[in-house]
Amino acid sequence: MTLQVPVQEKQRLFADLLLRIGEIVFSSLLPREKLDFVCQLLRQSVAYYNWVGFYIVDLKAERELVLGPFAGEPTDHIRIKFGEGICGQAAETLKNYVIQDVSAEGNYLSCSIHVKSEIVLPVFHEGKLIAEVDIDSHVISPFSAEDERFLEQVAIRSAPLLAQIQQ
Ligand code: SME
Repeated sequence: MTLQVPVQEKQRLFADLLLRIGEIVFSSLLPREKLDFVCQLLRQSVAYYNWVGFYIVDLKAERELVLGPFAGEPTDHIRIKFGEGICGQAAETLKNYVIQDVSAEGNYLSCSIHVKSEIVLPVFHEGKLIAEVDIDSHVISPFSAEDERFLEQVAIRSAPLLAQIQQ
C-alpha cells in the first residue's frame, strides 16, 4: 500500500500541529508528560505516522540510545547502539534518514512486520546530539520534504524537554 498526501494538505496539517505542540510545550505539565502528548498528538493526527517516539542518548552508557516517550505498539528495541539500525546510523552520522521502503535496507532493526517505511531525525541541544525523533509507517513512500521540515521543527521544540529527562 502506498499513500501520497497532497502537499497543501500536509502543509496545513503540519502548521496546525506546530501550534498545538507550542501549547503543549508551554503548558504546566511535566517534561515527560509533554513529550508523551507530543507523540500521541502526532500519531493521532497524521494517518501514516503509526509509531512515534523519541530515542534519547544514554549518558550512563557508551554510545547507546535508550527508548524515551513514544506512542504506538511496544517495541523490543529499548536500547540501540550507535551504528545499529536506522536509529543507530542517524546517531553516528548526525543525518536525517528517510527510508521509504525498509525492505531495501540492510542495516535495519524491525519492530513489526507491518512497518514499511521509517523517518529518523537527530535532535540537538546546545550543539550536541541529545536524542532522535523516530516515526514508523505502515505504508511505503509516505514521507516527503514537508515531513522532514516539520519533524525538524518538532525536534527543535522537543529538545529542551528531552534535555530535562535525559539521564
Ligand atoms: N527501526 C528502527 C528501530 C526502532 S523502531 O522502529 C521503534 C531502526 O532500524 O533503528
